Amino acid sequence: MSSSAVNGADIPRHVAIVMDGNGRWAKKRFMPRFFGHKQGVDALVRTVQACADRGIEYLTVFAFSSENWKRPTEEVSGLMGLVLVAVSKYLTKLAKEGVRIRIVGDRDAVSDKVREAWNQAESATAHNTRITLSVAFNYGGRWDVVQACRQAMRAGVAPEALDETTLSRFMAMSYAPDPDLFIRTGGEVRVSNFLLWQVAYSEFVFTDCLWPDFGEAELDSALRSFAARDRRFGAVPTGQPVAENSI
Ligand code: IPE
Ligand code: IPE
Ligand code: MG
Repeated sequence: MSSSAVNGADIPRHVAIVMDGNGRWAKKRFMPRFFGHKQGVDALVRTVQACADRGIEYLTVFAFSSENWKRPTEEVSGLMGLVLVAVSKYLTKLAKEGVRIRIVGDRDAVSDKVREAWNQAESATAHNTRITLSVAFNYGGRWDVVQACRQAMRAGVAPEALDETTLSRFMAMSYAPDPDLFIRTGGEVRVSNFLLWQVAYSEFVFTDCLWPDFGEAELDSALRSFAARDRRFGAVPTGQPVAENSI
């Protein structure tokens, strides 16, 4: 049952979120950045539940970008360690609640332990159907386009046969429809290399809310904004008559 103020028909099938602002959230409290990341995991679990309750089928979150390796070693290893903690703390609960977990990103560059934790999260939830949570980890939109091209070439797709539909089949998120709604917390108004290919016609909501503070109220506010949009996909605005012989 939806507890959102938004009519079921206006609920997006797929919501993508750049979970940004953990460091600033911690700084405001005179705490180390890691504390913000830790609280960020709780915000994620809350948000998965809220999305499932509202009938959203796919939630995709940006957890670690291809560029986040540029951060201090201490922060990177803290984030890697947090994957292990988060999986051991929340996997059973999420599995029970019908969440299917999928990881998108380059797994080759992460440690065996992190890879195993992700594999465990995927296999323990593979049968679930209530909501698909895709965690973009060591992910970049540009990486995705390049890896899809490589796979297409390996599969022997001829250059003339390569079109948008064919390439989409090789993209990391080929199992999901494109995001309808793209949310970024933390106040920055940029994409930062998330889902570049897939957001061609997504609706964008940017909020100053720092990720650890995100919850039902902020989600509902983004959903209301989404419900008020007129998605045209290049066509004429809804309800506007097209004049005949107007050329
Ligand atoms: C987002 O929060 C989490 C990751 C990128 C891993 P940040 O760590 O970017 O937090 P801010 O933007 O510095 O506040
Ligand atoms: C984007 O946030 C990546 C994640 C939330 C995982 P960043 O904090 O890394 O992005 P920039 O550096 O502000 O663009
Ligand atoms: Mg940031």
